[in-house]
Amino acid sequence: MNHFYYIHGVLNAEGTIVAELALQYGTPLYIYSAKTLIQHYDAVDNAFAGVPHITCYSVKANSNIALLHLLARRGAGADIVSGGELFRALRAGIPAERIVFSGVGKTSKEIREALHAGILMFNVESLMELERISEVAQQLKTTARVSLRINPDVDPNTHPYISTGLRENKFGIPMEDALEAYELAAKLPGIEVVGIDCHIGSQLTQLAPLLDALERLLHLYHQLTAKGFAIRYLDIGGGLGITYDTEEPPHPKEWGAAVAKALEGLDITLITEPGRVIAGNAGILVTEVLYTKHNKDKLFVVVDAGMNDLMRPTLYGAYHRIHVATEIYKRPMVKADIVGPICESGDFLAKDREIPVVFPRNFLVIFSAGAYGMSMSSQYNSRPRAAEVLVHGEFHTLIRRRETYEDLIAAEEPCLDEMIRDDLEHIERILR
Ligand code: LLP
Repeated sequence: MNHFYYIHGVLNAEGTIVAELALQYGTPLYIYSAKTLIQHYDAVDNAFAGVPHITCYSVKANSNIALLHLLARRGAGADIVSGGELFRALRAGIPAERIVFSGVGKTSKEIREALHAGILMFNVESLMELERISEVAQQLKTTARVSLRINPDVDPNTHPYISTGLRENKFGIPMEDALEAYELAAKLPGIEVVGIDCHIGSQLTQLAPLLDALERLLHLYHQLTAKGFAIRYLDIGGGLGITYDTEEPPHPKEWGAAVAKALEGLDITLITEPGRVIAGNAGILVTEVLYTKHNKDKLFVVVDAGMNDLMRPTLYGAYHRIHVATEIYKRPMVKADIVGPICESGDFLAKDREIPVVFPRNFLVIFSAGAYGMSMSSQYNSRPRAAEVLVHGEFHTLIRRRETYEDLIAAEEPCLDEMIRDDLEHIERILR
């Protein structure tokens, strides 16, 4: 359920006309619907209402602070993977005690920052990381709460780049090493073992792999409690898929019901880390058609959004539905590649796609772009990043201004100081 809908061929976002927003703010433009975001958050959070739980929104999906703020007001926690995401989550008002820190490469600096903030726990991915956290915690004379991320070796049946729970993936500690890892963790100073964690992949369209992984985790849970470990948290990660095209992923309710059944009678707080299912269909990307061109038999529609704005199609071959923002008369359909302005053949948003005939200055809308869209964007080809607008009821707010050319070089050092200049002159003399 989302709040982007056509009225007489005109796309609306919660009742605001999308083409008008594009005219006002320019393109490429990300537009989010607050109502959709909140509804999706609520759907996941309510799905687990039957068990003590924390819904830790996975910040990487979309880390705009205004969206984080909306979720914080709803009571969301956060799943973070960097010091930068910690900074954003705290700034947005997400309480530290509702933040879990995942990721395979936490640095000492990031660990220190998280300990200072007092986050709920670290999801630890290796024994070396465990030792590092122990060291940093001792330096700070504090204790770090940890879960071990276990790799349950289940196949999530998703794109290989976003599968994480297979033995060959870099994530987590193999199930067969888990007990030993817990024993080691228990002995380390500055470490308090509080939970078990796993995340098997993203854009999962079936429940079975999620439940399979849960079953394996629960087996470990019973082994650990029998050994006297006080496991208080079970973090089952995120990964629930969304509809981009014709997928029919399970409703969060089904996930929630199955998990509640599996946890019956256990004294445990459940943690989930949903990202895409909350933000994915709460956002669209609007782009303007610049040119159309025929090369031999092929029609290209050149638009002003590129792979730097939305990387998913080229990186994963991902499908995003694309349609015109306004279709007040029925247009004939054509097959086209929709491509961006970047100097790479991989710069496409869609290939061989049936779309209505378009002309320069028409707006095209790329749907389901709320997750892993803006958060994976870059300035490649020195393209200032797109603006982001949040529609909420009858109102809309610019939540990230379009970057300027000055932003492109803001962190760079434009003038060479005397010393470098002397060195360069010296090198040039030698080369002459
Ligand atoms: N927890 C952990 C530890 C994760 O690594 C991820 C995503 C999530 C939670 C959230 O997963 P979600 O609920 O959003 O599926 N860029 C890719 C997706 C990469 C996902 C990485 N990890 C894409 O655009 O499809």
